[in-house]
Amino acid sequence: MELSKDLVDFILNKNIESIEIENEDYFVLQRIQEKVPSIDKNSARLLYFLSFLKKPEYILEIGFGSGFSCWAIWLGAREKIKKIISFEHEKKRFLKGIDFINKNSMPVNLINKDFSKENLLIESEKANIDGFDLIFIDGTKREYPLYYNDSFDFLKKDGLILFDNVLFNGNLLKLVNMEEGKNVQGGKILYHFLSFVSQDKRIVPFFLPIGDGLLACIKK
Ligand SMILES: C[S@@+](CC[C@H](N)C(=O)[O-])C[C@H]1O[C@@H](n2cnc3c(N)ncnc32)[C@H](O)[C@@H]1O
Repeated sequence: MELSKDLVDFILNKNIESIEIENEDYFVLQRIQEKVPSIDKNSARLLYFLSFLKKPEYILEIGFGSGFSCWAIWLGAREKIKKIISFEHEKKRFLKGIDFINKNSMPVNLINKDFSKENLLIESEKANIDGFDLIFIDGTKREYPLYYNDSFDFLKKDGLILFDNVLFNGNLLKLVNMEEGKNVQGGKILYHFLSFVSQDKRIVPFFLPIGDGLLACIKK
């Protein structure tokens, strides 16, 4: 049996109808008007659902962007979440994010720095966090192997690590078959990373065709 695009759209739209995300227009407008890249409506529902299921206390995010992913995770488990540390290196997005976080009284430490293991250690110590229950990765695609490597020790046993856009804006298979050009190197890095993760015995991975492809892994 093969699912047609119409059927896939039909079933995915059911999520959009059933899970209500407050303030959704705020994020959609940022994507349209300010061209801030953000997760799509379906990925937001999936994050909400996984957060509701996992009930994480401590969360790490790489790539705050518009804040949509952070908000969806927060809505899914707001009575359980103690702290979210989120990295966003762009000043304008950071400042807009701080405003939103304060207005909505979210327990988020938004960090206006490049993600690195050293910065993660500093911020975790400051917040008194010795491990994360959920990590959401949505920064620069070619840096995914580095993020995985640098954050893995901070993920608790049974913790969930999620990677967005693993299809590289739908271009992954095209890029991997090209010799040179924009994003070719990044595409190849991501492609090999997916092969590596699928064989990594320290985790249980699951690849989901939601949005631009989402990879979910649970640490054994
Ligand atoms: C795809 S967007 C994130 C979208 C966001 N998750 C949302 O739902 O709105 C990626 C963001 O990560 C930021 N970023 C990329 N690499 C980074 C890094 N190494 N450290 C900190 N921020 C980074 C970019 O500035 C950008 O805003």
